[in-house]
Amino acid sequence: MRKNVLVFRPIPQDLLASIEAQHEAIVADPRQPGQLPAFRAALADAHGLIGSSYRLGAAELAGARHLEVISSISVGIDNYDLAWLREHGIVLCHTPGVLTETTADTVFALIMAASRRLAELAAHVREGRWTRNIGESLFGWDVHGKTLAILGFGRIGQAVARRAALGFGMRVLYVNETTVEVPELAGRAARTTLDDALQQADIVAVTLPLTEGTRGLMGPREFALMRPGAIFVNGARGQIVQEAALLAALDSGHLRAAGLDVFATEPLPQDSPLRRHPLVTALPHIGSATHETRRAMAELATRNLLDALAGRRPAARFDLAAAAA
Ligand code: DGY
Repeated sequence: MRKNVLVFRPIPQDLLASIEAQHEAIVADPRQPGQLPAFRAALADAHGLIGSSYRLGAAELAGARHLEVISSISVGIDNYDLAWLREHGIVLCHTPGVLTETTADTVFALIMAASRRLAELAAHVREGRWTRNIGESLFGWDVHGKTLAILGFGRIGQAVARRAALGFGMRVLYVNETTVEVPELAGRAARTTLDDALQQADIVAVTLPLTEGTRGLMGPREFALMRPGAIFVNGARGQIVQEAALLAALDSGHLRAAGLDVFATEPLPQDSPLRRHPLVTALPHIGSATHETRRAMAELATRNLLDALAGRRPAARFDLAAAAA
């Protein structure tokens, strides 16, 4: 049976064609000017949704009476109301695995950029200020050999740990609900408490999912626990951090620098002090944004969608029951 699919973020043409071969597809991106009415109209008839980066809570989905599946082109599922989906028997799929290494590359790039002041020094060259050999005021800080604390030790956290321990000789501490045995990291990564990790690390990197338990996790107390001169990196979700507390820790000189790919509000508001802060390397949420990985995510999400609509078990179905437990 042909069903109705709402594509709420553009996907490659061949993948759209593979959906259209089996179903009726409407493309309407609610974030684009003028497309919200078409998105809402299509939502009312949709059996399947595929897209990302748009909040689909209970209020938005209330009129979607035929909905069977949401296939998110993201690993993070914080844009959805999990309890509502569970209650209404809707299948939620996402894209774990295919973006792990790319997102870990981004986190490590932020560790390097914040420590070695790469964005600031590249601007120094570009803006014509490199007129004599640089002095101490423009020196950075080593990454190799330092202690890295990783908050969250899922696939991405482990991939960051491999880069740090095996590539940069770093001591790795991680904070996670359970101890994770990663054979390549045997003896090189130790699980500890949040407070201990913050107190010991030269660099703290967040790779946690956003949940009610992690929202606002990094606040004034946590930043105060970090070592003076430490560096903070967030490649997960902006709402895990209380941004005012981070700014205060940077402005007081307690923290040396921050590297941020994610923000509480995205795109980052024009008047946010994080946009132009001299100690912040800010990126526009590029964690998984390479040609190869975004293609792989769209492919997996399309497969998930088509399998779910056909009544087959999707490869990457999010376990809503386990999330409730
Ligand atoms: C993800 O996959 O969750 C990325 O952060 C994009 O939203």
